[in-house]
Amino acid sequence: MKLVAKTLMMAALFGGAVNLAQAAGDATAGQAKAAVCGACHGADGNSMVPNFPKLAGQGQAYLVKQMQDIKSGARQVPEMAGITPGLSDQDMADLAAYYAGQKAQVGAADPALVELGQKLYRGGSAEAGVTACAACHGANGLGMPEAGFPALSGQHATYIETQLKAFRAAGREDAEGKRRTNDGESKMMQATAARLSDNDIKALSSYLNGLH
Ligand code: HEC
Ligand code: HEC
Repeated sequence: MKLVAKTLMMAALFGGAVNLAQAAGDATAGQAKAAVCGACHGADGNSMVPNFPKLAGQGQAYLVKQMQDIKSGARQVPEMAGITPGLSDQDMADLAAYYAGQKAQVGAADPALVELGQKLYRGGSAEAGVTACAACHGANGLGMPEAGFPALSGQHATYIETQLKAFRAAGREDAEGKRRTNDGESKMMQATAARLSDNDIKALSSYLNGLH
């Protein structure tokens, strides 16, 4: 009896902790709520526009965090200004569950840029002090969903290039310097991107579009 009680208590505690860390999302509810997002991000999260990010196959924790940052203004996405005020925590969890369950469409890397892109992605650069991207984003670019490290596999090269240049400028900024997130997660990328040249960024962006 005592053992059973103890086990139940631990299960309750553990379950409680998990729930606190991440509100459970309902993918079916998320699909219905995603109708308004489809014009830019594609019905299944595979956007057709190179500067609108693909959301298909992205990790839930990362998706929720970005939606929260965009809603709070920590990350400024003017295109979504009319949408995020209406998103509740439950909406975000449902949307994230839906997109995480979709499959990202992978593109193709420019053969002329593959070698440099792969070298930097897998091994970083000792000379420049760049950490291997694969350490956090995974060997195949699928990210580490539990840690909130985003998937990059198949993402549009144009979008990736914009993000890396924004991180390099120590934020997520647009040309007018208006996008800022300076939390711990972004700092990891700011430190990494600080040492990348324009050519490194071009090669990595192309490589990631084809990585899977
Ligand atoms: C009018 C176009 C538009 C609509 C509609 C739109 N978005 Fe976005 N979204 C964008 C743009 C543009 C970005 C960021 C581009 C950048 O930072 O360079 C973005 C970024 C995001 C990101 C961050 C992705 C990443 O990889 O970091 C998430 C998550 C997101 N949107 C979710 C949604 C959801 C969910 C909806 C619907 C409720 C939605 N968006 C509707 C244009 C749109
Ligand atoms: C120490 C871990 C770490 C390393 C190493 C790292 N990243 Fe990241 N990366 C992150 C985290 C965490 C985020 C999410 C940042 C945020 O929440 O704003 C991120 C975000 C990104 C994004 C934005 C994704 C999106 O959908 O908007 C890109 C692109 C990216 N990283 C590319 C790279 C490349 C290329 C390298 C190697 C040169 C690299 N990262 C190395 C942890 C890392």
